[in-house]
Amino acid sequence: MTSPAPQIHPTSEPVRLPERAAIVDLAAIRHNVGVLAKVAAPARVMAVVKADGYGHGAVPVARAALAAGASWLGVAHISEGLALRAAGIEAPILAWLHTPDSNFSAAVAAGIDLGCSGWELERIVAAAREQERPARVHLKIDTGLGRNGATADRWDSLVGEAVEYQDEGLLRVVGVFSHLAVADEPQRPETDEQLAAFRDAVALAEDAGCDLEVRHIANSPAVFSRPDAHFDLVRTGISVYGLSPFAGQSAADLGLRPAMTLRATLSQAKRVPAEHGVSYGLLYKTPGESTLGLVPLGYADGVPRVSDRGPVRIAGETYRVAGRVAMDQIVVDLGPDADPDAFAGAEAVLFGSGEEGGPTAEDWARAAQTISYEIVTRISPRVPRFYVGEDA
Ligand SMILES: Cc1ncc(COP(=O)(O)O)c(C=O)c1O
Repeated sequence: MTSPAPQIHPTSEPVRLPERAAIVDLAAIRHNVGVLAKVAAPARVMAVVKADGYGHGAVPVARAALAAGASWLGVAHISEGLALRAAGIEAPILAWLHTPDSNFSAAVAAGIDLGCSGWELERIVAAAREQERPARVHLKIDTGLGRNGATADRWDSLVGEAVEYQDEGLLRVVGVFSHLAVADEPQRPETDEQLAAFRDAVALAEDAGCDLEVRHIANSPAVFSRPDAHFDLVRTGISVYGLSPFAGQSAADLGLRPAMTLRATLSQAKRVPAEHGVSYGLLYKTPGESTLGLVPLGYADGVPRVSDRGPVRIAGETYRVAGRVAMDQIVVDLGPDADPDAFAGAEAVLFGSGEEGGPTAEDWARAAQTISYEIVTRISPRVPRFYVGEDA
């Protein structure tokens, strides 16, 4: 399923929202990138816009991030980088997760930098030959995360092979990078070990003749907690979207503004008697006569079915989901005194900026026993993205 075309809404006109929407505040994206640029300086900022900009929309987020001082974009897949190029974005892009079926030729043709763990090297070189254009490569060292990247014992030979191809004019090693495993838990010792291994890997590459433009290992948590991990470039994802990478610190604590608000117009409000069951399994029973509100967002929209009593803000009050999350809808118990007529067409906000005590994606992450990354990324294409705050 493809996402509907994004609607970009100028701040100067009155807003008419779709009945359900993920509203993305591009001013918040710009603000967050400004915060990150300050904290990371003199290192530069790569805005990570993989997974459709963590669910926010890769192209509008990329444009806002570049306008606010990011100088690189990061994606997992070459196809994500090609989509940015197709939208006319010319900034440096790095794609780092490939398979033998990845289209390396298209990446080289589009000037997309390629992460390389080892096995890709021959394919990247073949693509460079085909395109008659040197590929730009960032060699990846696995300093301990155990995902992609060359292990330390393969690093020497990978660098040697890459330098040979560089000497033949088929590629340029422009970067060395790695990824951290526990930077969100600053008290853990493994980050020191990863940084030491990274410094060794960089030194070996430089000694072997790589004239590196960028050395990079920091993700969002390391930007805030490990200045010694900043090197030349930081790869920031979740913080661009205004969410905290730390369990014990909120976005506000870090000076970030959550960019996404998930909202819907209430579908129905009705009186029910005491002991009325709610949703599949009848896990919730009204404690007394009450008013139920029906919110047209469910797990097909990305609301986690496993979430336990996630928060929903309606008319300045925070309620909790009553009973199971269904495919298309959730129910909130508005209480014994709520007049159903007063709630007709009311707005229900599942999460947003957190201002005035409203719920956040971090609250939903706690309710679903997950991380805020997953909450925003999983909002499905059925929910139209609606952009505000475009004017710089
Ligand atoms: C290789 C790589 N770098 C950077 C990031 C950004 O991480 P964060 O969202 O914690 O800033 C990711 C995201 O998972 C990643 O996979």
